[in-house]
Amino acid sequence: ARVAVVVPAAGRGERLGGGVPKALRPLGGRPMLVHAVQALSAAELVSQIVVAAPPTLVEVVSRLLGPDVRVLPGGAERVDSVRGALRALDDDIRVVLVHDAARPLTPPSLVDAVARAVLGGHPAVIPVLPLADTVKEVDADGRVLRTPPRGGLRAVQTPQGFRREVLEAAYASQDGDQPAVTDDAGLVERLGVPVATIPGADEAFKVTRPADLMFAEALLARRPL
Ligand code: CTP
Ligand code: MG
Repeated sequence: ARVAVVVPAAGRGERLGGGVPKALRPLGGRPMLVHAVQALSAAELVSQIVVAAPPTLVEVVSRLLGPDVRVLPGGAERVDSVRGALRALDDDIRVVLVHDAARPLTPPSLVDAVARAVLGGHPAVIPVLPLADTVKEVDADGRVLRTPPRGGLRAVQTPQGFRREVLEAAYASQDGDQPAVTDDAGLVERLGVPVATIPGADEAFKVTRPADLMFAEALLARRPL
């Protein structure tokens, strides 16, 4: 069964700032997206990569990533970018991973672990980590409503992996009036499909704010060549 990865990379990176779309922000001298795609290419089980790029930069990104990576224009929201990229999958793809371009230091071994768990029979698989911070649920005025016990909470990373038909059904059922979904598994959960978890990786953190980029630069500088 062939495995594809869809890479949403069309965001503006407003929280990071800097005036460049986040996927093209340099990390160790090369765009973050290049690091992310290299990790995907290095995974043993990945046979197709489809990238959703900022619409005005499709040509630039395509030249950057080379002929083996399909590059399409992304959409207004992350869900739109993923939905568009799903249409470009090869016919024989049976497993689809979705991986943020903004997680440039994700280990290839995590990509393979997610793919292997789906190939092994789970319809949906996500990498997770325990939380360092306590989380509060608050009302619209910021008053604390409750404190869910931290031991039962997980922070969720990508790549998230799915049987192709499961992810396609989830995106077909998604409509704009539903509350914001912040990950792909969230859509799959709404279908009642069980979502399995596997251990995530510290290096798969998302570059969101300026301090994350500084951390990524420091980690990269210490990587063995
Ligand atoms: N993404 C996308 N299309 C969008 C919005 C986001 O493909 N319309 C992608 C981003 O490029 C990123 C991933 O989804 O790789 C995770 O989103 P996030 O970290 O929120 O990135 P941005 O939306 O670019 O950042 P911000 O929310 O700070 O503007
Ligand atoms: Mg965003």
